[in-house]
Amino acid sequence: MNQLGLYSKNSEYNGYSEYYTKCKNVYVWQDGQKYLDCGIMGIGTSLLGYNNKQVNKAVKKAIDKGVFSSSNCYEEKLLAQKMQEIHDFECITRFARTGGESMMIALQIALNNTDKKEAIQTGYSGWLLENLKLKKFKYNDIESLKKVLNKNVGVIVLDIVRNEYPTKEFMQYIYDVCKKQNIILVVDEITAGFKFNYGGFYKNIYVEDNIDNGCISTKQNEKFPVQLKPDIIVYGKAISNGFAFSMIVGKKHIMENANKSFISSTYWTERIGTVACLKTLELLEKQNFDYLYKVGLAVQKIWYKMSKKYKVLIEINQIPQLAHFKFLPDKRYGNQENIHNKYLTIFVNVLLSQNILGGCVFYSCFKHRAKHLLEYERACDTAFKTISNNRDTPKFVIKINNWKLIKDLPVKIR
Ligand SMILES: Cc1ncc(COP(=O)(O)O)c(C=O)c1O
Repeated sequence: MNQLGLYSKNSEYNGYSEYYTKCKNVYVWQDGQKYLDCGIMGIGTSLLGYNNKQVNKAVKKAIDKGVFSSSNCYEEKLLAQKMQEIHDFECITRFARTGGESMMIALQIALNNTDKKEAIQTGYSGWLLENLKLKKFKYNDIESLKKVLNKNVGVIVLDIVRNEYPTKEFMQYIYDVCKKQNIILVVDEITAGFKFNYGGFYKNIYVEDNIDNGCISTKQNEKFPVQLKPDIIVYGKAISNGFAFSMIVGKKHIMENANKSFISSTYWTERIGTVACLKTLELLEKQNFDYLYKVGLAVQKIWYKMSKKYKVLIEINQIPQLAHFKFLPDKRYGNQENIHNKYLTIFVNVLLSQNILGGCVFYSCFKHRAKHLLEYERACDTAFKTISNNRDTPKFVIKINNWKLIKDLPVKIR
């Protein structure tokens, strides 16, 4: 077991070097070697590219003025105002530093608003909720949701989007059941937020209701499309471009019950995260979010092209901004047990040999350019070719000498 890194940065899993010494835009320096990051881009945090000059400048200025005191920093107020501008319902915002803890805060606040004791969830919402072992249902699967729904459920936690777009029926069902049974809807935008638009992905979701612009229809069964308005929305990762920060934004009447339980931590009020977030949002507001879609789609196309060229079966997800793929078993080639991890090990290693950090996940950022994708495509070509050439050999004996790390270990990149 190596000494550094939690799950997703553990070099035993992702095959990368244990340490980096410098990062800038889409490059990371490890052991004196410069790598192009065409992988998880700081686990989906760094849409403006690593080490952004303007965010750094704002942070340095805050450091010089002092980043912690007995009082809250002024920027919290500015950020709360900004959140009110972004969300078209009356909201209150609370600040924390990591995604997992902010989901725990959101869950606690949600539970404060209901007498029902149970919460259910779909997807991943951080290590704290994972260890609570809430009952889970499958995304886009109404039947599996029905199985875990009962009269004691007071909160639904929804990891808003990851592999596929939400279906209309799924979201309508959630909306209707929350309304009918007074269930609090907590939407996790920690990974999705600010990758599709300036704000949460939930803004793309419309459901039908008999309410039009706040007025209730008098005609029986008359329905209007309304934008989904979750009770609580949680943001993290991309909102502060690599500085630790997260936000819990909720409807005013829901958030006002936050103090019914004890929720507190000293460093939730440090200034660096807040300032970094304010500056990051200011810069993100000027961006065209279609760019992230286009870059992600281009990478998905590269995977597809290579898979066809070398007849290596893969499955690619639906969402370019959160692009990922999985190697699939192919019965024609012997033992296919654990094949995704085995092929992924080769894939990661070949990319490393070409000075590229990559894996089965690609998070696009505004600093990825066509030249980077060309470099990436060349490396992918070599990687898929290598997989194709090696799949008849029972052990993945790799023939080129100068690769840095060749292990037949399970590779897991979240
Ligand atoms: C949707 C989602 N929620 C929560 C988390 C947890 O965030 P953090 O790792 O900052 O605790 C993640 C992290 O990958 C995530 O993808």
